[in-house]
Amino acid sequence: MSKPQAIRDNIHDLKDSNRAKPQLTADAPLLQSFESIAPLPNGLTVKACQSSVKALNQILADSITLRDLYKKHHWQVAGPTFYSLHLLFDKHYEEQDRVIDKIAERVQLLGGISVAMAADVAEVTNVPRPPRGREEVSAQISRLLEAHEIILEEARECAEKADDEGDPGTNDLLVADVVRLNELQVWFLAEHLVDVPVVREE
Ligand SMILES: [Fe+2]
Repeated sequence: MSKPQAIRDNIHDLKDSNRAKPQLTADAPLLQSFESIAPLPNGLTVKACQSSVKALNQILADSITLRDLYKKHHWQVAGPTFYSLHLLFDKHYEEQDRVIDKIAERVQLLGGISVAMAADVAEVTNVPRPPRGREEVSAQISRLLEAHEIILEEARECAEKADDEGDPGTNDLLVADVVRLNELQVWFLAEHLVDVPVVREE
């Protein structure tokens, strides 16, 4: 004999509410371990992917650090050039943020895992940690220039290696996006440290 309609509705509602309940599985096993490669059908060798992923992750960690350094300086800058530097630092922050996304997604499409979280970035970056306190403009700019130079050297070396390994896509990203952006930002920063008097002394 079939169950009364009210009971059937009740069972139906219960099933629905169970389906709607969030299934929290934060302790589920990892899908892929960091530093492993999950090859995709893209014609690249695993060796080429491993080599590019390792170098790209270093550049990624350093670029994330540089990006955050720009925001720190955007907030903390002081002095007569406050307004222009406040805006310039934020512009460079946004540009670095965009290139960081491209680097991270390149790591993923090569079958790797991109470094992502601040604590992991802090462990691997080659960019020196700044003080928590506020620095004057010349120190802020010098610190940014030092970070840019680290990234530029790594990017040029990685671009050359990627080409040798048969991974021109990584070479293209590094030259067209990373190297050119960092070179341009270096120019905009470095010109602030040229000692040019506003009024010439007689
Ligand atoms: Fe802001």
